[in-house]
Amino acid sequence: MEFTNTWFQGVCPAWEQLLPIYKPAKILEIGSFEGQATCWLMQFCSRWHPLEIHCVDTWEGGVEHHAGGAYEVDMVAVEQRFRRNVEEAARSLSHGVELRLHKTISADALVNLLHQGYSDYFDLIYVDGSHLAADVLQDAVLGFRLLRRGGLLIFDDYLWIGDPNAPVDPYAIPKVAIDAFINLYRPRLRLLQASNLQVYVLKN
Ligand SMILES: C[S@@+](CC[C@H](N)C(=O)[O-])C[C@H]1O[C@@H](n2cnc3c(N)ncnc32)[C@H](O)[C@@H]1O
Repeated sequence: MEFTNTWFQGVCPAWEQLLPIYKPAKILEIGSFEGQATCWLMQFCSRWHPLEIHCVDTWEGGVEHHAGGAYEVDMVAVEQRFRRNVEEAARSLSHGVELRLHKTISADALVNLLHQGYSDYFDLIYVDGSHLAADVLQDAVLGFRLLRRGGLLIFDDYLWIGDPNAPVDPYAIPKVAIDAFINLYRPRLRLLQASNLQVYVLKN
């Protein structure tokens, strides 16, 4: 498999501890990029049972990936790597993985899933798409409806601030949205743990 970054490696130890407790089978990933988390989930979780993994991504990048952004990247090549990587990861798994791709903006994909009857369906939802606060909030609120009771919601990039050389734009970071969501949904969730990288929440 071919990955051009190490974002995921920092969170692996936490996932290796948590996921054996919850053994998710139905997984929704918002923001898949080159498929690093997707491939890891395919290989780690398929030891227990067959998996259904839904990947939502425009494969157009977030604002930080666009021309002139802090992390400008060729998203056509990223999508091609995603497709090659998941194909490679699918070889030699203990159980089958049904991979469903939703190539569109997350709000549309999540609303479509709700319309198709996927309310309270997923065991694990990983929010790692747009970093704009309004988008993260939208992904959290819609994702929460798609998550079953007892399901695990993971937010990535809790303290991500974008370009470290530019002033922090509070509308363009996940933290304000994650905090707002957790505060408003507090009676309906349990905060499991949080680090500077990720926040882990269970739906009551
Ligand atoms: C940080 S990357 C995801 C990293 C990935 N989870 C991994 O393991 O490497 C964010 C991804 O979200 C996608 N994205 C950004 N905004 C989006 C939106 N509004 N809807 C869907 N995907 C979006 C981008 O195209 C990009 O591939």
